[in-house]
Amino acid sequence: MTANRTLTPLDRWLSDIQNALDTVFGAPHAERPNPGADAPDVVLDDAERRHAAGLMRINHVGEVCAQALYVGQAAVARDEQTRAHLMAAAQEETDHLAWCAQRLAELDSRPSLLNPLWYAGSYAIGLAAGLRGDGWNLGFVVETERQVEAHLDEHLQTLPPADMRSRAILGVMKADEARHAEHARARGARRLPPPVPTVMALASKLMKTVAYRV
Ligand SMILES: [Fe+2]
Ligand SMILES: [Fe+2]
Repeated sequence: MTANRTLTPLDRWLSDIQNALDTVFGAPHAERPNPGADAPDVVLDDAERRHAAGLMRINHVGEVCAQALYVGQAAVARDEQTRAHLMAAAQEETDHLAWCAQRLAELDSRPSLLNPLWYAGSYAIGLAAGLRGDGWNLGFVVETERQVEAHLDEHLQTLPPADMRSRAILGVMKADEARHAEHARARGARRLPPPVPTVMALASKLMKTVAYRV
């Protein structure tokens, strides 16, 4: 991803469009090695493989949404440091995106067909959060990461025990998401008022139900 710091507004929009295309249609490149690569590749039975693929597709969509949210939020962030923070976090989300895509392929499956839609919706939400100011912007990061961490925990419990590779990936993702939240908190995130966290949870529940299958 291109660093946004020295770009003109037009460059930024072009870079955002590039990010959207890379995220949805490209093959994102991870900067860190896949944490699942060294875990044993246990053969799963058909039902287990399908279930693991459904969960990893949800996680992949989650990372598509994370890219879109962060890039949308960064596009309208008022403070340069907040923007830099958001773009740095987006790079770590690119690792997550690439790892989930690799695991989906290993599980003989594919990403969600609705990814363009998930990206567009999340980008719009990111812009809306960002336009409320940097305190909101960072508060939104904290709430998103808190919810993602909770669902990663849930997936770690419901993945087939033999799926060590997916488990290794989710373990590192969970640690990264916790750090993203912590950094946003330290930068002055404000607490989002009700019903925002509830609406976010409902939207993510809808995403998870659909992405498990499509
Ligand atoms: Fe992530
Ligand atoms: Fe994150």
